[in-house]
Amino acid sequence: MKSLYNKKILQVQTSKIRQFNDYTKSVGADVILTLGEPDFFTPEAITDEAIKALKEHQTKYGPTSGFADLRQKICEFEKKYNNFECVPDEVLITHGSTEALCSAFFTMLNPGDEIIVPIPAYPMYRQMIEFMGGKVITMDTSHTNFQITKPMLAKALSSKTKAIILTSPNNPTGAILSDESYEVIYQALKDKEIFIISDDVYNQIVYSKRKLGIIKYPDLKDRIIVCQSYSKSYAMPGWRCGYMLANKEFIKHATKIHQYMIVALNTFIQPAMIKALEYDSSEMVKIYQERRDYIYDRLVKMGLEVDKPEGAFYIFPSIKKFNISSFEFCKRLALEYKVAIIPGDCFEADDHVRISYCVDFETIKVACDRLEKFIKTL
Ligand SMILES: Cc1ncc(COP(=O)(O)O)c(C=O)c1O
Repeated sequence: MKSLYNKKILQVQTSKIRQFNDYTKSVGADVILTLGEPDFFTPEAITDEAIKALKEHQTKYGPTSGFADLRQKICEFEKKYNNFECVPDEVLITHGSTEALCSAFFTMLNPGDEIIVPIPAYPMYRQMIEFMGGKVITMDTSHTNFQITKPMLAKALSSKTKAIILTSPNNPTGAILSDESYEVIYQALKDKEIFIISDDVYNQIVYSKRKLGIIKYPDLKDRIIVCQSYSKSYAMPGWRCGYMLANKEFIKHATKIHQYMIVALNTFIQPAMIKALEYDSSEMVKIYQERRDYIYDRLVKMGLEVDKPEGAFYIFPSIKKFNISSFEFCKRLALEYKVAIIPGDCFEADDHVRISYCVDFETIKVACDRLEKFIKTL
């Protein structure tokens, strides 16, 4: 039977994060800090807008690229929030940023093309790039405070480089790329025909003054592909909505993939997407920040080597000194102390573990108490 399948689909791995999450539940873990899913409900004003649209029977097929008024509002939002100039023809409304990322890979990859992925990295990049015939070239940032340096980028670049992916704030590290990292990228890429995929899903969850990412270089604009999500900033992961921003030509081609895979995003969700753009998420961010401060202090007091995350809702301590694999560490923590966190190996960084702090304060506290006890046994 195997021969009936696409050869590459047989190589694609299902999410190790979800597998490990299921494993921790199967062994009875009751303190769960695994998934990157806000513990907040979607703000009511946003939900009400979708209910209203449903009641008004907005249930027909929508336009392929998304409603024009939504795409216009996204342009205004991007200008105001990120100083990014775009027009509605440069916006595609997608089924989460996952679809934006997949459509982007489909649109650009020919067999053997290379995409540079700084690691630790969100695991779907590798699975999807390889499935679509591309090759992942990793750049290990775990020894440079998760920043990109000139030598590492020079080493990763080749005549086959099609794109680089930038994820800032980052999953799993919570790190934000520094001005120096951006300058390194800019100087290396400014004269090259290489796309820059900016996975911006956490760019509203930042704890210091917001800085512009790669979009601050206007001369790169035609090669920047922004993949954006509503899942994190507005606590809407189950709605599955997001967007892609790119030049008109790129959007035109990406829309073909989108059309044949999705047809168009759910009609009644789109008025709620407009409403969400008006939502001020600073209260949620403040709460994430309080949790970040608490968990960071606790990990430092436990003697773990850890960078203070500047955004997103993950913290990524090193477990190198214990001399065991991240799977072994997390398995034992789940089995013996009933705490679920994610092995760094899932992000190609086996020396670390990822803790998601998008859970209530009490859960974080209990997790830290148990982790502290566990560490003392190692
Ligand atoms: C870095 C990163 N990119 C993309 C996604 C996918 O987000 P969405 O829910 O919009 O598909 C996630 C989700 O965890 C993520 O962490």
